[in-house]
Amino acid sequence: MSKIVFIGGGNMASCLIGGMLANGFSSHDIMVSEPNEASRQRIASTHGILTTKDNIAAVSQADIVVLAVKPQILGAVASPLATALGHGPIVVSIAAGIPVSALQNWLGQTLKIVRAMPNTPAMVQSGATGLFASQSLSADQQSIIENIFTAVGYACWVDQESQIDAVTAVSGSGPAYFFLIYEAMLKVAQELGLDNQTSSQLTLHTALGAARLALASDKTPEELRQQVTSPGGTTQAAIESFQSQDLENVFRVAMTGALDRAKEMSDDFAG
Ligand SMILES: NC(=O)c1ccc[n+]([C@@H]2O[C@H](COP(=O)([O-])OP(=O)(O)OC[C@H]3O[C@@H](n4cnc5c(N)ncnc54)[C@H](OP(=O)(O)O)[C@@H]3O)[C@@H](O)[C@H]2O)c1
Repeated sequence: MSKIVFIGGGNMASCLIGGMLANGFSSHDIMVSEPNEASRQRIASTHGILTTKDNIAAVSQADIVVLAVKPQILGAVASPLATALGHGPIVVSIAAGIPVSALQNWLGQTLKIVRAMPNTPAMVQSGATGLFASQSLSADQQSIIENIFTAVGYACWVDQESQIDAVTAVSGSGPAYFFLIYEAMLKVAQELGLDNQTSSQLTLHTALGAARLALASDKTPEELRQQVTSPGGTTQAAIESFQSQDLENVFRVAMTGALDRAKEMSDDFAG
């Protein structure tokens, strides 16, 4: 079995490790390197895995290294690891906005690097992750990387690194779009006469149900929408109002803005 070492034992590492252990990974194959003693103790007691504060010793025995520190400090954390990665493990970076070129500058040009863009619903095993590999991986390598992220939800590969910026604009930032819709529906539902609890539960169960129905169906979103829209009925009144305000374009402008910001952030690190 592959030895997987996490550099950084914060929120995202803990959530991935919890999912991995619940999905068949062995606690003996996972280690966390993390400078903060309280965080190490929390990881060890929550997950029953080995921890260390020695990043270099940890990665020197790894088959897969998952870089799970904040993007701002990744360069300083990664550069000292270059020599210890000489045996050629796969390096998976979950740091938002850090391109493969920056990772290769810090770690070595020949390493196989995977960029992963998970999202916060991974905390409840309902994440969505986009993956990009800098070089082709063997079927076994591809499968183990996929297993790390499918342990906390859905994961898919993209062919080009630029598509990771699109993944960021869709699913990385996406939970906040739905929270914004939740906020709006919650306020309006109360204005329409429902109490806070009822408004919240009805809104959230509707979102969950719509997502489950769409996932279980082979119908297009337009067909699903038409299924609940009888001519001249209540849904039609609401949908026509959204469409008259060009809701699709509101999303186009917002998501293109997120994409542009992701590109700018990557360009800053690409140097
Ligand atoms: N949270 C998300 O939803 C999400 C989604 C997509 C991608 N990401 C990416 O995931 C990465 C981690 O995010 P997070 O939310 O898990 O952050 P976090 O909770 O702050 O975790 C980062 C951890 O790294 C530790 N650390 C600091 N310096 C280190 C060093 N030299 N060596 C090893 N570990 C070190 C930190 O310790 P201290 O606390 O002591 O500094 C902290 O425990 C980020 O790059 C972020 O862009 C996160």
